[in-house]
Amino acid sequence: MSAYHELVARLDYPMGIVTTVADGRRSGCLVGFHTQCSIAPPRHVVFVSKKNHTHDVAAAATALALHLPDRSERRLAEIFGELSGDDVDKFRLVEWDEGPEGLPILRGCAGWIAGHIVDRLGSLEDDHTGFVIEPFAGDVRAPLHQLGFQAVQDMLPGHEA
Ligand SMILES: Cc1cc2nc3c(=O)[nH]c(=O)nc-3n(C[C@H](O)[C@H](O)[C@H](O)COP(=O)(O)O)c2cc1C
Repeated sequence: MSAYHELVARLDYPMGIVTTVADGRRSGCLVGFHTQCSIAPPRHVVFVSKKNHTHDVAAAATALALHLPDRSERRLAEIFGELSGDDVDKFRLVEWDEGPEGLPILRGCAGWIAGHIVDRLGSLEDDHTGFVIEPFAGDVRAPLHQLGFQAVQDMLPGHEA
């Protein structure tokens, strides 16, 4: 529906970078599709394309980390949004630390949360899976001048959705 596509293309939702680990495999990608979805208990949902390298790893994982990059961190967003773990190990290109439950935590981000995966959303035909997480750790390191979708919509995704 063209009005729908036109409208959502004008939104300026906050970009995130999701990372995860399962069976020693690390993965992560840039996401625009994420939002808080419950207050009590606190829950957040992150939608990951089924074609992404990150999807396979997230499907086997018990937790995700969601980073909120500052608008000065465009380079980090490019690495996670324009490259695929199918071709390159993104974690060799950025600074990160091993965080709770082995999750890779990116140093360059203003804030992050780690959450246990408590549910999955979406039907078989949908091209994204929603991973519902319940936050159990996190940090706010700096004031957040959020990186919005309008500032990165020129990027070429590493995978088609
Ligand atoms: C502006 C922008 C928004 C994106 N939003 C999402 C998203 O919400 N969910 C998703 O799975 N991929 C999203 N992507 C695409 C992935 O970040 C991209 O295809 C990435 O290279 C996949 O990496 P991977 O194969 O290592 O998982 C977005 C990319 C861009 C440039």
